[in-house]
Amino acid sequence: MIYITRRERFNAAHRLFREDFSDEKNLEIFGKCSNPNWHGHNYELFVTVKGEINKQTGFLVNLKRLSKIIRENIILKLDHKNINLEVEFMKDKLASTENLAVGIWQELEPHIKALGADLHCVKVTESENNFVEYFGD
Ligand code: NI
Repeated sequence: MIYITRRERFNAAHRLFREDFSDEKNLEIFGKCSNPNWHGHNYELFVTVKGEINKQTGFLVNLKRLSKIIRENIILKLDHKNINLEVEFMKDKLASTENLAVGIWQELEPHIKALGADLHCVKVTESENNFVEYFGD
């Protein structure tokens, strides 16, 4: 079993809040990310896939194809978008990095299978110091 990771980047806006909380309570729970007028992050997405090395190519997967899958199914939907308002797969979810990682996993998994590999990890960094990893369970 071998693992390979592709990094892609996107910029997106969000707000962490609950409508049933006051602005004060949202600030207490969600901090600066609860700002009522939105804010953005420079996100990084690391997609790790696993499988066996193809004896003919020496590759696990074709990285160009992996990058295309991530860009078409994830980056196009997220880049320069408002995660709360414009991203179908995040509809009705809190726009946290955790939920984003799970949503990205669900979007990507069938496409990775079609590449002949298995999705191993979706890692999303929201800032230099904070990142989330999701392994599918
Ligand atoms: Ni934020």
